[in-house]
Amino acid sequence: MLNVFLCLGLFVSHYTVNTEIIYQGFNSSFVPQWWQPCIIYEVYVRSFKDSNGDGLGDLNGITEKVDYLKNLGVCAVWLSPVFKSPQLDFGYDISNFREIDPIYGTTHDFDRMLEKFHKAGIKVLLDFVPNHTSNMHDWFKKSVKKIDPYTDYFIWKDAKYVDGVRSPPNNWLSVFSGSAWEWSEGRQQYYFHQFLVEQPDLNYRNPKVHEEIKDVMRFWLDRGLDGFRIDAICHVYEKEDFADEPLSGKPGVLPTDYLYLDHPYTMQLPENVGLVKEWDELIYSYKKKESDELKILVLECYAPTKKLMPYYSNDSTCRSTFPFNFNLVEHMDRESDAQDLKTMISTWLINMPEGSWANWVISNHDRDRIASRMESTLLDGIHMIQMMLPGTAITYYGDELGMENSYVRWDQVTDTFALNYGPERFQLVNRDPERSPFPWDDTKNAGFSDASNVWLPIHPNFWADNMKQQSKRKSHLRTYKQLARLRQNPTLIYGDLDMFTLSKWTFGFTRSYKDNPTYVVVVNFGSETETVDLLKFRPTLPAILKVKVSSLNSGLVTGNLVNATSIFLRPKAGLVLITSYSNEV
Ligand code: GLC
Repeated sequence: MLNVFLCLGLFVSHYTVNTEIIYQGFNSSFVPQWWQPCIIYEVYVRSFKDSNGDGLGDLNGITEKVDYLKNLGVCAVWLSPVFKSPQLDFGYDISNFREIDPIYGTTHDFDRMLEKFHKAGIKVLLDFVPNHTSNMHDWFKKSVKKIDPYTDYFIWKDAKYVDGVRSPPNNWLSVFSGSAWEWSEGRQQYYFHQFLVEQPDLNYRNPKVHEEIKDVMRFWLDRGLDGFRIDAICHVYEKEDFADEPLSGKPGVLPTDYLYLDHPYTMQLPENVGLVKEWDELIYSYKKKESDELKILVLECYAPTKKLMPYYSNDSTCRSTFPFNFNLVEHMDRESDAQDLKTMISTWLINMPEGSWANWVISNHDRDRIASRMESTLLDGIHMIQMMLPGTAITYYGDELGMENSYVRWDQVTDTFALNYGPERFQLVNRDPERSPFPWDDTKNAGFSDASNVWLPIHPNFWADNMKQQSKRKSHLRTYKQLARLRQNPTLIYGDLDMFTLSKWTFGFTRSYKDNPTYVVVVNFGSETETVDLLKFRPTLPAILKVKVSSLNSGLVTGNLVNATSIFLRPKAGLVLITSYSNEV
């Protein structure tokens, strides 16, 4: 039976768009859940820290770095998949959901890591891949042989014969290129795979699959896990009539490219939401008494904002399932001006169900790193925006240092997506550059591993720019830590948000809460130096403001005073200012 708890934290969250106040915060009866003021830190396990000298990161390596993460100010880590896997898609092809892959360690190592994180007050989320398994999973092997109950665990269809030639049942394409259907000699049928040939899709029209997957979730939650990042949720269901998908008409794509078609029948089906609601009930059932902390589900789906909103838990004030907000990943680029920023941010806030909590993603293991996509000089400014907005912040490992993509030559490529594209076109989709090992220091392999070879090239600048070195000086790392600490301030948890386009390229906002000092964030996205007058936009601000956090390129340091009518910002510089001179805030 479902537990019902009184949700402490009545909210007064409304959005007013016709005035400048776009987001009205929460009142003091709101009791934030652990994941709300939190920074969730994505650890790409293969690249974080190698403890056994095989050139690949592992669980014991992560355990060694718990103190670093604690010190950084993160409150949860999300680990890329660590389950048993042939590693063709680096763990997103799971052959056993209940075992840890030996390249990453053992179940004992996992328990030890979990315990160490928990002692440090950090929650742990695992990446969970419900859309597909590996073709090496026992369920698939038995499905090929039609051994019940596995016969219909996957999506099987008879071949279509065109002029006597065997062909796939329809025109559906794999995200990783080519037909999404693969012939099985063993079963004499095609199976469907949204991703690699070796990643057959599970069949969620079969209720037994729902139960299997929930059992796996329980297995890890019972071990003390705090939640999951759910992979590729918008791909889970397909339309039952298997109709051909329409041509997209996009220029410059090959007939084998995923973008050659639109995907109304294989993506974002309404049934996906129903499935997530089942899991939402499951994780909520772990809250057995008022003092139990909620487990969380964070969903990966690239879709227009409005289509993502139904994934939020029904009662968002006391439930904890939410979709990643990829607006800053998908829409922020080197052309973005202040108005674009305002639109990207308000689109999420305005569409979010009343009382829900936002989140902000800027990079991940599938997209170019933020410092490469934008400009590394703008990194502090972007972190200021991400961390000072209302909502959970999601950090991809190494972004705190401003890590950039590493160049990966064709002969070094490991990403199967890129390999499918071949030597001429691999750069279009290669995800290796954003997955290179973390530069801990200037020693061999940047302190990542003792091996003679590591799995991907380390950024050649590691000797000059690494974690150890950035700890000693004004750096991206220091800015990040300052911002992480500020997030615990009530104004940043409860406060209103008011956004401004201070000039075409200078974006700014304030966060205010009751009589507490107001925080002001200003970032120059442009290529020219700007002098902006804040009082034009918020005449109630005091004439002098104090610098709380300053970007590396700002020329200012914490504690400097600035005149609110003439704030000087170099290109790509950012500042967090405050309306109090006290050192306490
Ligand atoms: C998700 C993952 C990606 C993976 C794909 C298939 O998009 O983030 O890395 O390749 O799903 O599982």
